Amino acid sequence: MAVTTKQHAYLQAMGIEVFIPQGSSPVGAPMAAVPATPESLPDITTHTQIVAATRDLNWEQLQSQVSICTACELHTTRSQTVFGVGNPHAEILFIGEAPGAEEDRQGEPFVGRAGQLLNEMLRAIKLQRTDVYIANILKCRPPNNRDPKPEEALQCWPFLQQQIALIQPKIVVALGRIAAQRILHTDTPLARLRQQIHHHVQFNLPLIVTYHPAYLLRSPQDKRKAWEDLLFLQQSLRDITK
Ligand code: URA
Repeated sequence: MAVTTKQHAYLQAMGIEVFIPQGSSPVGAPMAAVPATPESLPDITTHTQIVAATRDLNWEQLQSQVSICTACELHTTRSQTVFGVGNPHAEILFIGEAPGAEEDRQGEPFVGRAGQLLNEMLRAIKLQRTDVYIANILKCRPPNNRDPKPEEALQCWPFLQQQIALIQPKIVVALGRIAAQRILHTDTPLARLRQQIHHHVQFNLPLIVTYHPAYLLRSPQDKRKAWEDLLFLQQSLRDITK
């Protein structure tokens, strides 16, 4: 698949090396040099600064960095940042997309209707919120619950990366298509991403994918498949930790 200049810069900034065959260049780039920060790509510099600033931070320092972040426009519309919740040494890390209205109000991920369903999904495999860690790709609510923009995900990425470094989970669960596709850098449909273990090179962790609870509220007929995914999660964790 051809990698555009913009994608290439995002991937590089996330620490993902993209192999570009000799003599070719990312789509849209001049043959000679790939500009480090294409004009169309805002704030790689800020991203790099966040990467440097978040590395080695402890929980309190990281949370405080997140709470004052102004790296993207979402800081102008948020009520507060939504850092993450749960066991700081959890074996399982759930990653959603971004806070919604209720999460923005309460400052905690997955506390609205989707969050209640997530709690029930956890209970189904005999877990509580306090057993796992729950975070989002974005720490601020996108207005009108629109999808996260690539540049917002990019700016927020180092925060998630440092959360993972601190938690050191055994396995990551991406909740829903948007989170899964962003984390795995793919446009493969969710149906083809679930029920398998992906190795996330940058996280250096196994990762599985399941439906977003908000989707399951709209499409309850897929709850059975979500249940299969939870059993797959249980089995995968057993295999990893045995
Ligand atoms: N949806 C998400 O992806 N995350 C939340 O925190 C709430 C709803």
